[in-house]
Amino acid sequence: MEIIIADNYEEMSRVAADMIERQLLRKPSSVLGLATGSTPVGLYRELVRRHREEGLDLSKVITFNLDEYLDLSPSHPQSYRYFMDENLFKHINVDPKNIHVPYGHAEEIDAFCQWYEDEISRAGGIDIQVLGIGADGHIAFNEPGSSLGSRTRLKTLTKQTIDDNARFFDDPNEVPRFAITMGVGTIMEAREVLLIANGAKKAEIIAHALEGPVTAQVTASALQMHRHVTVVLDAEAGAMLKRLDYYRWVFEEKKRLVPRLIGKVT
Ligand code: GLP
Repeated sequence: MEIIIADNYEEMSRVAADMIERQLLRKPSSVLGLATGSTPVGLYRELVRRHREEGLDLSKVITFNLDEYLDLSPSHPQSYRYFMDENLFKHINVDPKNIHVPYGHAEEIDAFCQWYEDEISRAGGIDIQVLGIGADGHIAFNEPGSSLGSRTRLKTLTKQTIDDNARFFDDPNEVPRFAITMGVGTIMEAREVLLIANGAKKAEIIAHALEGPVTAQVTASALQMHRHVTVVLDAEAGAMLKRLDYYRWVFEEKKRLVPRLIGKVT
């Protein structure tokens, strides 16, 4: 696991965008796993900028989003599909038929989840999966207690997650209680994982997830078992890590001597 401590949110977003861009240069038809939430907004903004100003080409990518609220239609302003359209898809040249976001109105949920898993396999698996982290350590909507081998399925959200998400809804009673989410096992099969987090409110859970025990109580901790994870944090989110000085030193040395090795887990 490589942990990069960026100075601020902008640098975090730029470093994350560099990793996606490098992946796209290596393989223009990359399969991207995408996340929602406030954390990746800067990353998506930077990708849009590079597309517009520098010709970053996303015409061949295939995308799979991590999750979606149950019973929200894709046009609902709080749905994750809507979020992705507004923050990324509308502004780049991705082919709409290559976009996959779990469908919140799926009638046969189990069959839909199996289809989603099969689609990921048919696309050849996810090359790089972008992740944020919830306040309780969840990745996607894998709440504490989720099996570390779990697959795409329906998940009941915790009170904390419902409260955290209430800020986006006019009426707190409208916040969905259920979501369709990729499982921890699904995420662990991505060839590369890029976890991003910013802000002081993530500092404690980041320290638990990255330096604490691997436990289903903090599903992000499963990433310690993944072969290629890069974590990009701003200074606030990294503040409670025990080995902070080492992570900073590695990043500074790489920036100075071998920038191409940033995100290479060396
Ligand atoms: C939701 C999403 C997660 C996301 C988390 C954090 O729970 N399902 O994928 O990582 O929110 O959101 P934020 O980036 O706004 O802190």
